[in-house]
Amino acid sequence: MAILDRHKAIETHATLLLVLSFLVVSIGGIVQIAPLFYLENTIEKVEGVRPYSPLELTGRNIYIREGCYVCHSQMIRPMRDEVERYGHYSLAAESMYDHPFQWGSKRTGPDLARVGGRYSDDWHVQHFINPKSVVPESVMPPYAYLLDRMVTPQHIEDLLRTNRTVGVPYTDEMIANARADFLAQADPDRDPSGLLERYPGAQVRNFDGQPGISEMDALIAYLQMLGTLVDFSTFIPDASR
Ligand code: HEC
Repeated sequence: MAILDRHKAIETHATLLLVLSFLVVSIGGIVQIAPLFYLENTIEKVEGVRPYSPLELTGRNIYIREGCYVCHSQMIRPMRDEVERYGHYSLAAESMYDHPFQWGSKRTGPDLARVGGRYSDDWHVQHFINPKSVVPESVMPPYAYLLDRMVTPQHIEDLLRTNRTVGVPYTDEMIANARADFLAQADPDRDPSGLLERYPGAQVRNFDGQPGISEMDALIAYLQMLGTLVDFSTFIPDASR
């Protein structure tokens, strides 16, 4: 009975109850959170996942600027309806170089985590100029102005460096070649061999079909690589972790 009496003391003193509850919750929190700071890696490494190329990263910034995440998620959940519609469920490693991540929380439009390769570049250009011209019932706003806005690699080294600061493994070589790689990915007249060595699987072409490198080029370069880095025909989940 003595222990119950003591418990009564706690339950009848609001301050004491608050202090002790706080203590218990803190211990629970520390036990859960502290190890995460010491683990080498909480994300299973997956073959094929690499940092974004300079042009893809530029396109990604446009995606963020335009608020595409307000209507589109980039996170396929492991439920049957999602996997059948969008493809293999998203792996943590696929967004390990995303700062900030674009998982999103609303799907006015479809998930885009694996939209890469699903449509031609032409389709994307038409869709951005006027979504209703290819999907009559679409409520997506037009983004035709992206065609007229040119992008230059003026700040590209800084962008890569900033990403390196938060943990993306851009090497000194990648930063030194950022401008050249940016230009090589959208200009068929340049030599893309260095780009392809540094960013395996990068797609090289004039994405919007117009001369010069526009925001449309960068955004389509980004969309066309989404979800294409991991080869799911050979991927085996590592169950040992
Ligand atoms: C107001 C909500 C809204 C916004 C903002 C929006 N979209 Fe969409 N998006 C949609 C809807 C709805 C669809 C489905 C109909 C269609 O294809 O147009 C769609 C379809 C798409 C598709 C085709 C996907 C598929 O699998 O069929 C792509 C790609 C896309 N959007 C990219 C973007 C990008 C990039 C942006 C930002 C520049 C953006 N969207 C902004 C609503 C939106």
